[in-house]
Amino acid sequence: MNKIERGREFMSKNAVRVVSSSTVRVSAGEDCVKPEASDAFVLSPYVEQVTQRALAYLVAGYPVHFSGVAGTGKTTLAFHVASMLGRPVTLVHGDDEFGSSDLVGKDSGYRKNKVVDNYIHSVLKTEEEMKSLWVDNRLTTACERGEILIYDEFNRSRPEANNALLSVLSEGILNLPKLRRSGEGYMSVHPEFRAIFTSNPEEYAGVHKTQDALMDRLITIQLEHYDRDTEILIVTRKSGLPREDAERIVDIVRELRSFGVNNNRPTIRAGIAIGRILASQHRRANGGDIFFQMVCRDVLATDTAKITRGGQPVMMQKVEEVIHKICGPARPAKEKGKEVRQ
Ligand SMILES: Nc1ncnc2c1ncn2[C@@H]1O[C@H](COP(=O)(O)OP(=O)(O)OP(=O)(O)O)[C@@H](O)[C@H]1O
Ligand SMILES: [Mg+2]
Repeated sequence: MNKIERGREFMSKNAVRVVSSSTVRVSAGEDCVKPEASDAFVLSPYVEQVTQRALAYLVAGYPVHFSGVAGTGKTTLAFHVASMLGRPVTLVHGDDEFGSSDLVGKDSGYRKNKVVDNYIHSVLKTEEEMKSLWVDNRLTTACERGEILIYDEFNRSRPEANNALLSVLSEGILNLPKLRRSGEGYMSVHPEFRAIFTSNPEEYAGVHKTQDALMDRLITIQLEHYDRDTEILIVTRKSGLPREDAERIVDIVRELRSFGVNNNRPTIRAGIAIGRILASQHRRANGGDIFFQMVCRDVLATDTAKITRGGQPVMMQKVEEVIHKICGPARPAKEKGKEVRQ
Protein backbone atom coordinates (compact mmCIF):
# COMPACT_ATOMS: atom_id res chain seq x y z
CA MET A 1 0.00 0.00 0.00
CA ASN A 2 1.54 3.29 -1.03
CA LYS A 3 1.48 6.52 0.99
CA ILE A 4 -1.62 7.95 -0.75
CA GLU A 5 -3.63 4.76 -0.27
CA ARG A 6 -2.65 4.61 3.39
CA GLY A 7 -3.79 8.23 3.80
CA ARG A 8 -7.19 7.50 2.18
CA GLU A 9 -7.71 4.50 4.46
CA PHE A 10 -6.89 6.59 7.54
CA MET A 11 -9.34 9.29 6.47
CA SER A 12 -12.16 6.81 5.91
CA LYS A 13 -11.55 5.15 9.29
CA ASN A 14 -11.43 8.47 11.15
CA ALA A 15 -14.35 10.23 9.50
CA VAL A 16 -16.86 12.30 11.50
CA ARG A 17 -20.37 11.22 10.60
CA VAL A 18 -23.36 13.43 11.33
CA VAL A 19 -26.04 10.82 11.96
CA SER A 20 -29.01 13.13 12.45
CA SER A 21 -30.00 16.74 12.68
CA SER A 22 -33.45 17.66 13.99
CA THR A 23 -35.36 20.24 16.04
CA VAL A 24 -36.40 19.54 19.59
CA ARG A 25 -39.16 21.50 21.31
CA VAL A 26 -38.38 22.47 24.86
CA SER A 27 -40.93 23.83 27.28
CA ALA A 28 -39.96 27.06 29.03
CA GLY A 29 -41.29 25.57 32.29
CA GLU A 30 -44.21 26.40 34.57
CA ASP A 31 -44.91 30.11 34.71
CA CYS A 32 -48.68 30.30 34.81
CA VAL A 33 -50.59 31.81 37.75
CA LYS A 34 -53.87 31.11 39.50
CA PRO A 35 -55.28 34.54 40.36
CA GLU A 36 -57.46 34.95 43.43
CA ALA A 37 -59.42 38.03 44.43
CA SER A 38 -57.81 39.92 47.33
CA ASP A 39 -59.82 41.20 50.31
CA ALA A 40 -59.71 44.67 48.75
CA PHE A 41 -61.40 43.53 45.55
CA VAL A 42 -64.79 45.22 45.09
CA LEU A 43 -67.60 43.29 43.44
CA SER A 44 -70.12 46.07 42.94
CA PRO A 45 -73.21 45.60 40.73
CA TYR A 46 -71.34 47.29 37.85
CA VAL A 47 -68.29 45.02 38.22
CA GLU A 48 -70.56 42.00 38.47
CA GLN A 49 -72.51 42.97 35.37
CA VAL A 50 -69.35 43.46 33.26
CA THR A 51 -67.95 40.18 34.60
CA GLN A 52 -71.10 38.27 33.64
CA ARG A 53 -71.03 39.64 30.11
CA ALA A 54 -67.36 38.80 29.63
CA LEU A 55 -67.85 35.30 31.02
CA ALA A 56 -70.77 34.67 28.67
CA TYR A 57 -68.62 35.55 25.64
CA LEU A 58 -65.68 33.48 26.85
CA VAL A 59 -67.80 30.43 27.64
CA ALA A 60 -69.24 30.67 24.12
CA GLY A 61 -65.67 30.50 22.84
CA TYR A 62 -65.03 34.16 21.98
CA PRO A 63 -62.01 36.16 23.09
CA VAL A 64 -62.87 39.25 25.12
CA HIS A 65 -61.25 42.65 24.85
CA PHE A 66 -61.51 45.30 27.58
CA SER A 67 -60.91 48.71 26.08
CA GLY A 68 -60.87 52.02 27.89
CA VAL A 69 -58.83 54.93 29.19
CA ALA A 70 -56.30 54.55 32.02
CA GLY A 71 -57.66 53.53 35.40
CA THR A 72 -60.98 52.09 34.25
CA GLY A 73 -60.17 48.70 35.78
CA LYS A 74 -59.28 46.80 32.58
CA THR A 75 -56.41 44.77 34.01
CA THR A 76 -58.20 44.09 37.29
CA LEU A 77 -61.33 42.92 35.46
CA ALA A 78 -59.27 40.73 33.11
CA PHE A 79 -57.76 38.94 36.13
CA HIS A 80 -61.10 38.66 37.85
CA VAL A 81 -62.85 37.19 34.81
CA ALA A 82 -59.92 34.80 34.21
CA SER A 83 -60.07 33.62 37.82
CA MET A 84 -63.77 32.81 37.38
CA LEU A 85 -62.89 30.33 34.63
CA GLY A 86 -60.89 28.32 37.17
CA ARG A 87 -57.98 27.53 34.86
CA PRO A 88 -54.30 28.53 35.01
CA VAL A 89 -53.60 31.98 33.64
CA THR A 90 -50.71 33.09 31.46
CA LEU A 91 -49.90 36.79 31.40
CA VAL A 92 -48.31 38.68 28.51
CA HIS A 93 -47.68 42.43 28.44
CA GLY A 94 -47.66 44.27 25.12
CA ASP A 95 -44.28 45.73 24.23
CA ASP A 96 -43.08 47.78 21.29
CA GLU A 97 -40.00 45.58 20.97
CA PHE A 98 -42.02 42.38 20.67
CA GLY A 99 -41.56 40.17 17.62
CA SER A 100 -43.72 37.12 16.91
CA SER A 101 -41.07 34.95 18.65
CA ASP A 102 -41.89 36.70 21.93
CA LEU A 103 -45.33 35.14 21.72
CA VAL A 104 -44.73 31.76 20.11
CA GLY A 105 -41.10 30.91 20.88
CA LYS A 106 -37.75 30.74 19.12
CA ASP A 107 -34.60 28.74 18.42
CA SER A 108 -32.32 28.79 21.39
CA GLY A 109 -29.13 27.18 20.12
CA TYR A 110 -28.03 23.61 19.46
CA ARG A 111 -27.58 20.43 21.40
CA LYS A 112 -24.80 18.19 20.10
CA ASN A 113 -24.18 14.57 21.06
CA LYS A 114 -20.79 13.22 20.10
CA VAL A 115 -19.82 9.56 20.30
CA VAL A 116 -16.08 8.97 20.01
CA ASP A 117 -15.14 5.33 19.40
CA ASN A 118 -11.41 4.75 19.68
CA TYR A 119 -11.57 1.07 20.73
CA ILE A 120 -9.03 0.10 18.10
CA HIS A 121 -6.23 2.62 18.55
CA SER A 122 -5.63 3.09 14.84
CA VAL A 123 -9.35 3.71 14.17
CA LEU A 124 -11.17 6.81 15.42
CA LYS A 125 -14.90 6.90 14.72
CA THR A 126 -16.88 9.99 15.63
CA GLU A 127 -20.64 10.29 15.32
CA GLU A 128 -22.44 13.55 15.88
CA GLU A 129 -26.12 14.13 16.48
CA MET A 130 -27.18 17.75 16.05
CA LYS A 131 -30.43 18.99 17.53
CA SER A 132 -31.56 22.57 17.26
CA LEU A 133 -33.50 23.59 20.34
CA TRP A 134 -36.77 25.43 20.16
CA VAL A 135 -38.14 26.99 23.34
CA ASP A 136 -41.88 27.59 23.49
CA ASN A 137 -43.02 31.02 24.55
CA ARG A 138 -46.17 31.90 26.48
CA LEU A 139 -48.75 31.84 23.68
CA THR A 140 -47.63 28.38 22.56
CA THR A 141 -47.68 27.03 26.12
CA ALA A 142 -51.12 28.52 26.79
CA CYS A 143 -52.54 27.12 23.51
CA GLU A 144 -51.11 23.69 24.22
CA ARG A 145 -52.22 23.42 27.85
CA GLY A 146 -55.58 25.17 27.49
CA GLU A 147 -54.69 28.08 29.77
CA ILE A 148 -56.30 31.51 29.89
CA LEU A 149 -54.11 34.07 28.14
CA ILE A 150 -54.29 37.63 29.44
CA TYR A 151 -52.65 39.89 26.90
CA ASP A 152 -52.48 43.19 28.78
CA GLU A 153 -52.17 46.36 26.69
CA PHE A 154 -51.74 44.28 23.53
CA ASN A 155 -51.68 47.39 21.33
CA ARG A 156 -48.33 48.40 22.80
CA SER A 157 -46.89 45.63 20.60
CA ARG A 158 -46.53 46.38 16.91
CA PRO A 159 -49.52 44.96 14.97
CA GLU A 160 -47.40 42.43 13.00
CA ALA A 161 -46.03 40.93 16.25
CA ASN A 162 -49.57 39.74 17.02
CA ASN A 163 -50.09 37.93 13.68
CA ALA A 164 -49.83 34.47 15.24
CA LEU A 165 -53.03 35.21 17.15
CA LEU A 166 -55.14 35.48 14.01
CA SER A 167 -55.18 31.76 13.19
CA VAL A 168 -55.26 30.85 16.89
CA LEU A 169 -58.46 32.82 17.42
CA SER A 170 -60.30 31.91 14.23
CA GLU A 171 -59.10 28.46 13.11
CA GLY A 172 -57.78 27.14 16.43
CA ILE A 173 -54.37 26.49 14.88
CA LEU A 174 -51.02 27.87 15.96
CA ASN A 175 -48.60 28.05 13.07
CA LEU A 176 -44.99 27.26 14.01
CA PRO A 177 -43.19 27.18 10.63
CA LYS A 178 -39.77 26.71 12.19
CA LEU A 179 -40.86 23.37 13.63
CA ARG A 180 -42.01 22.02 10.26
CA ARG A 181 -39.05 19.67 9.96
CA SER A 182 -39.88 17.96 13.24
CA GLY A 183 -43.52 17.53 12.18
CA GLU A 184 -44.84 20.12 14.65
CA GLY A 185 -45.38 23.00 12.23
CA TYR A 186 -49.07 23.28 13.07
CA MET A 187 -50.37 22.92 16.58
CA SER A 188 -54.05 22.48 17.42
CA VAL A 189 -55.18 24.88 20.08
CA HIS A 190 -56.53 23.20 23.25
CA PRO A 191 -60.36 23.47 23.31
CA GLU A 192 -60.27 25.22 26.71
CA PHE A 193 -57.78 27.89 25.65
CA ARG A 194 -59.31 31.36 26.05
CA ALA A 195 -57.90 34.85 25.59
CA ILE A 196 -58.63 38.16 27.33
CA PHE A 197 -57.14 41.34 25.89
CA THR A 198 -56.89 44.85 27.27
CA SER A 199 -55.98 48.02 25.42
CA ASN A 200 -55.65 51.76 25.90
CA PRO A 201 -56.94 54.27 23.33
CA GLU A 202 -54.87 54.75 20.20
CA GLU A 203 -54.08 58.37 21.00
CA TYR A 204 -52.07 57.31 24.09
CA ALA A 205 -48.29 57.59 23.87
CA GLY A 206 -46.56 54.33 22.95
CA VAL A 207 -49.72 52.71 21.62
CA HIS A 208 -50.04 51.31 18.07
CA LYS A 209 -53.04 51.19 15.81
CA THR A 210 -54.78 47.86 16.17
CA GLN A 211 -55.07 45.42 13.32
CA ASP A 212 -58.61 45.32 11.91
CA ALA A 213 -58.33 41.55 11.40
CA LEU A 214 -57.50 41.02 15.07
CA MET A 215 -60.17 43.43 16.31
CA ASP A 216 -62.72 41.60 14.16
CA ARG A 217 -62.04 38.39 16.09
CA LEU A 218 -62.52 39.95 19.54
CA ILE A 219 -65.64 41.01 21.40
CA THR A 220 -64.85 44.45 22.75
CA ILE A 221 -66.31 45.67 26.03
CA GLN A 222 -65.86 49.42 26.26
CA LEU A 223 -65.15 50.39 29.87
CA GLU A 224 -65.92 53.78 31.39
CA HIS A 225 -64.73 55.07 34.73
CA TYR A 226 -66.47 53.24 37.59
CA ASP A 227 -69.69 54.69 38.99
CA ARG A 228 -69.43 56.77 42.18
CA ASP A 229 -70.48 53.94 44.52
CA THR A 230 -67.91 51.52 43.12
CA GLU A 231 -65.16 54.15 43.40
CA ILE A 232 -66.10 54.87 47.02
CA LEU A 233 -66.02 51.16 47.85
CA ILE A 234 -62.62 50.75 46.16
CA VAL A 235 -61.08 53.72 48.03
CA THR A 236 -62.57 52.51 51.33
CA ARG A 237 -61.26 48.96 50.90
CA LYS A 238 -57.86 49.91 49.55
CA SER A 239 -57.12 52.61 52.12
CA GLY A 240 -58.97 51.46 55.22
CA LEU A 241 -60.37 54.99 55.73
CA PRO A 242 -63.97 55.42 56.93
CA ARG A 243 -66.58 55.58 54.16
CA GLU A 244 -67.30 59.30 54.68
CA ASP A 245 -63.65 60.13 53.99
CA ALA A 246 -63.62 57.92 50.90
CA GLU A 247 -66.78 59.71 49.72
CA ARG A 248 -65.10 63.10 50.00
CA ILE A 249 -61.97 61.95 48.22
CA VAL A 250 -63.95 60.33 45.39
CA ASP A 251 -66.16 63.41 44.98
CA ILE A 252 -63.08 65.64 44.71
CA VAL A 253 -61.53 63.30 42.14
CA ARG A 254 -64.74 63.06 40.10
CA GLU A 255 -65.31 66.82 40.17
CA LEU A 256 -61.78 67.47 38.88
CA ARG A 257 -62.20 64.77 36.22
CA SER A 258 -64.98 66.75 34.66
CA PHE A 259 -62.77 69.83 34.49
CA GLY A 260 -60.26 70.79 31.81
CA VAL A 261 -59.18 69.28 28.54
CA ASN A 262 -58.39 65.77 29.73
CA ASN A 263 -61.54 64.60 31.44
CA ASN A 264 -60.15 61.10 32.03
CA ARG A 265 -57.85 62.27 34.80
CA PRO A 266 -57.50 62.10 37.71
CA THR A 267 -58.34 58.40 37.84
CA ILE A 268 -59.36 56.13 40.69
CA ARG A 269 -55.61 55.56 41.27
CA ALA A 270 -55.31 59.15 42.53
CA GLY A 271 -58.22 58.54 44.92
CA ILE A 272 -56.63 55.35 46.24
CA ALA A 273 -53.27 57.13 46.65
CA ILE A 274 -54.78 60.00 48.69
CA GLY A 275 -56.70 57.50 50.84
CA ARG A 276 -53.65 55.38 51.53
CA ILE A 277 -51.42 58.35 52.34
CA LEU A 278 -53.99 59.74 54.79
CA ALA A 279 -54.53 56.34 56.42
CA SER A 280 -50.80 55.72 56.81
CA GLN A 281 -50.46 59.08 58.59
CA HIS A 282 -53.59 58.51 60.72
CA ARG A 283 -55.21 61.55 59.16
CA ARG A 284 -58.71 62.16 57.86
CA ALA A 285 -60.09 63.82 54.75
CA ASN A 286 -60.75 67.09 56.53
CA GLY A 287 -60.97 70.15 54.29
CA GLY A 288 -59.30 72.31 56.96
CA ASP A 289 -56.27 70.02 57.33
CA ILE A 290 -53.28 71.58 55.58
CA PHE A 291 -51.67 68.14 55.14
CA PHE A 292 -54.81 66.86 53.36
CA GLN A 293 -54.85 69.94 51.11
CA MET A 294 -51.18 69.46 50.22
CA VAL A 295 -51.61 65.77 49.45
CA CYS A 296 -54.58 66.59 47.20
CA ARG A 297 -52.57 69.23 45.39
CA ASP A 298 -49.57 66.97 44.85
CA VAL A 299 -51.57 63.97 43.73
CA LEU A 300 -54.30 65.70 41.77
CA ALA A 301 -52.67 68.74 40.20
CA THR A 302 -49.81 66.98 38.38
CA ASP A 303 -51.85 65.53 35.52
CA THR A 304 -53.49 68.76 34.64
CA ALA A 305 -50.62 71.12 35.41
CA LYS A 306 -50.48 71.89 31.69
CA ILE A 307 -53.67 73.93 31.79
CA THR A 308 -52.59 77.45 32.53
CA ARG A 309 -54.20 80.84 32.89
CA GLY A 310 -51.91 83.82 32.40
CA GLY A 311 -48.91 81.46 32.59
CA GLN A 312 -49.96 80.01 35.97
CA PRO A 313 -51.28 76.44 36.32
CA VAL A 314 -54.95 76.80 37.14
CA MET A 315 -55.23 73.34 38.63
CA MET A 316 -53.73 74.27 42.02
CA GLN A 317 -56.44 76.86 42.50
CA LYS A 318 -59.08 74.50 41.15
CA VAL A 319 -58.07 71.76 43.62
CA GLU A 320 -58.49 74.20 46.50
CA GLU A 321 -61.88 75.32 45.23
CA VAL A 322 -63.09 71.75 44.85
CA ILE A 323 -61.85 70.73 48.33
CA HIS A 324 -63.74 73.66 49.78
CA LYS A 325 -66.86 72.84 47.77
CA ILE A 326 -66.88 69.14 48.73
CA CYS A 327 -65.58 69.25 52.30
CA GLY A 328 -66.95 72.58 53.39
CA PRO A 329 -65.26 74.54 56.17
CA ALA A 330 -62.76 72.88 58.50
CA ARG A 331 -64.26 70.45 61.02
CA PRO A 332 -63.38 70.32 64.71
CA ALA A 333 -60.27 68.34 65.64
CA LYS A 334 -62.23 65.58 67.43
CA GLU A 335 -64.86 63.72 65.48
CA LYS A 336 -66.84 60.60 66.34
CA GLY A 337 -64.34 59.68 69.03
CA LYS A 338 -61.46 59.62 66.51
CA GLU A 339 -58.59 62.01 66.74
CA VAL A 340 -58.02 64.20 63.72
CA ARG A 341 -54.53 65.67 63.60
CA GLN A 342 -54.46 69.15 62.11
N1 LIG B 1 -63.04 45.93 41.32
C1 LIG B 1 -62.00 46.50 41.90
N2 LIG B 1 -61.79 46.33 43.22
C2 LIG B 1 -60.73 46.91 43.83
N3 LIG B 1 -59.83 47.70 43.21
C3 LIG B 1 -59.99 47.90 41.89
C4 LIG B 1 -61.07 47.32 41.17
N4 LIG B 1 -60.96 47.71 39.87
C5 LIG B 1 -59.87 48.48 39.78
N5 LIG B 1 -59.28 48.61 40.99
C6 LIG B 1 -58.09 49.41 41.29
O1 LIG B 1 -58.13 50.57 40.48
C7 LIG B 1 -56.86 50.87 39.95
C8 LIG B 1 -56.93 50.91 38.43
O2 LIG B 1 -57.32 49.62 37.93
P1 LIG B 1 -56.56 48.90 36.73
O3 LIG B 1 -55.08 48.92 36.92
O4 LIG B 1 -57.19 47.58 36.54
O5 LIG B 1 -56.95 49.89 35.52
P2 LIG B 1 -56.51 49.83 34.00
O6 LIG B 1 -57.72 50.20 33.21
O7 LIG B 1 -55.86 48.53 33.70
O8 LIG B 1 -55.47 51.02 33.92
P3 LIG B 1 -54.25 51.22 32.88
O9 LIG B 1 -54.87 51.49 31.54
O10 LIG B 1 -53.53 52.42 33.42
O11 LIG B 1 -53.44 49.96 32.92
C9 LIG B 1 -55.91 49.80 40.47
O12 LIG B 1 -55.24 50.31 41.61
C10 LIG B 1 -56.82 48.67 40.87
O13 LIG B 1 -56.27 47.92 41.92
MG1 LIG C 1 -53.94 48.03 33.07
